[in-house]
Amino acid sequence: MATINDNYLKLAGSYLFAEIGRRVAAFKEANPQADIIRLGIGDVTQPLPAACIEAMHKAVDELSHAETFRGYGPEQGYSFLTDAIIENNYTKRGISIDSDEIFVSDGSKSDCGNIQEIFGLDNKVAITDPVYPVYLDTNVMAGRTGTLQADGHFEGVTYLPCDASNNFAPELPKEHVDMIYLCCPNNPTGTTLSRAELKKWVDYARENQSVILFDAAYAAYITEEDVPRSIYEIEGAKDVAIEFRSFSKTAGFTGTRCGYTIIPKTVKGRAADGTLVEFNKLWNRRHTTKFNGTAYIVQRGAAAIYTPEGQQQVKELVGYYMENARIIREGLEAAGITAYGGVNAPYIWLKTPNGMSSWDFFDKLLTEVNIVGTPGAGFGPCGEGYFRLTAFGDRENTLRAVERIKNKLRF
Ligand code: MLT
Repeated sequence: MATINDNYLKLAGSYLFAEIGRRVAAFKEANPQADIIRLGIGDVTQPLPAACIEAMHKAVDELSHAETFRGYGPEQGYSFLTDAIIENNYTKRGISIDSDEIFVSDGSKSDCGNIQEIFGLDNKVAITDPVYPVYLDTNVMAGRTGTLQADGHFEGVTYLPCDASNNFAPELPKEHVDMIYLCCPNNPTGTTLSRAELKKWVDYARENQSVILFDAAYAAYITEEDVPRSIYEIEGAKDVAIEFRSFSKTAGFTGTRCGYTIIPKTVKGRAADGTLVEFNKLWNRRHTTKFNGTAYIVQRGAAAIYTPEGQQQVKELVGYYMENARIIREGLEAAGITAYGGVNAPYIWLKTPNGMSSWDFFDKLLTEVNIVGTPGAGFGPCGEGYFRLTAFGDRENTLRAVERIKNKLRF
C-alpha cells in the first residue's frame, strides 16, 4: 500500500480560515435569518481598478486573434510586468534588482508556502508568534519540525513572541536559526517594524548566515514614512533576504491571483559538499519545473497598476480600506476595547475584553452581533487573548459592524 507523508498528520485538523468557514456555515444553518458581517478572512470586497479591467479586456481580445494570441509565456513573468515592478517598486526607491531576480507567480501565498522547498530539511526555522499560518504549516508538511506540543508550539521551531509587551516587535533569537520569516506590515497584528528593527534582523542574518523570508504583501498600506516598503531598503539585505509581494491586497487580486518573489543572486546557501549555491538558481529550477507562468490576461491587468491612472486608482482603493481601518480602530476604542494596528495595515488586532479567550470572543461576536472575525489563537499561542478584524469589508458593513460592537455587544 502507498504510504502517506506523515508530517501532514502533525498539523491541526484544518487550515485556520477553513475552520472559521466551517463554524460560520454551521451557525448560518442553525440561524438562517442572521445578517452576518464577515470581517474574518482578509479578502477584498471592492472591484478591480478600472485600469486593470481595461487592460484585461484588451488582453482577452488579443488572445482571440492568431496574430496576437499567446500560449505559454516566460515562467518568470512577461517583461512588460517585471520591468514595471522593478522600476516602480525598487529602482524608484534606490534599490537595484536585476530582471532575473524576479519571479511572477499566482500569488504570495503559493510563494511563501513553496519557498521552503529550496532549503535543506535540517534548517532551523524561526517564526514570529502570532504568525500567518502558511509559513509554519508548510514547514510542518515538509518535515522541518517535530510534533505539536501541549503548549501549542511545534517542537524544533523557534518562536519569536510578539505582543503588546514588546510592541509586537520580535526579539532576536538566543539560539542560531537559519530561516527567519518576517511579515511587515504584519498579518495578523497590523503592526510594522521600523528601519532600525529591520536592520537588527539583517545584521543577525548576515552574522549567522541565515536567510530572511520577508513577506511584504501589505506594503501598499504603509502610510508612515519611516516604515520601509521593502527589506532591500536596509543596507546589506540583498545578501540575506528573499522578498514576497502581492497584487492581492494592493489591487484587489485575491481572486485574480498575481504576486511575485524577489531573490537576489547574492543570497546563497551551502550545499552538502560545502559549495555555495544561489537560491535564485534553485528557485528558477523549481519555478520552471512546477509552474507554467501566470495567465497573460492577469499579468496585463497587474501591469496596468503602474500606469498613471492605475496608480491613482490603487491609491484610492487602498485609501478606501484604510478609512475602514480607521473606523474600526476608533470604534473599538470608543467601545472601550484596546486595539493595535490599522495605521500601516488593513488589520486591527484587538485585545479581547475581560481576558476572554480568543475563540470565546469569536463565538460571542458571532452569536451576539453576527460578526465574523479571526481568533488570535489561530495564529499561534501568543495570539491568545487577541482577535483580528479586517478592514477589507465594504464601507456600509464596516460601519454597521462597528455600530453593533459599540451598541449591541454586552461586556
Ligand atoms: C488572511 O486573512 O490572513 C489572508 O486572507 C490570508 C491570505 O492572504 O492568504
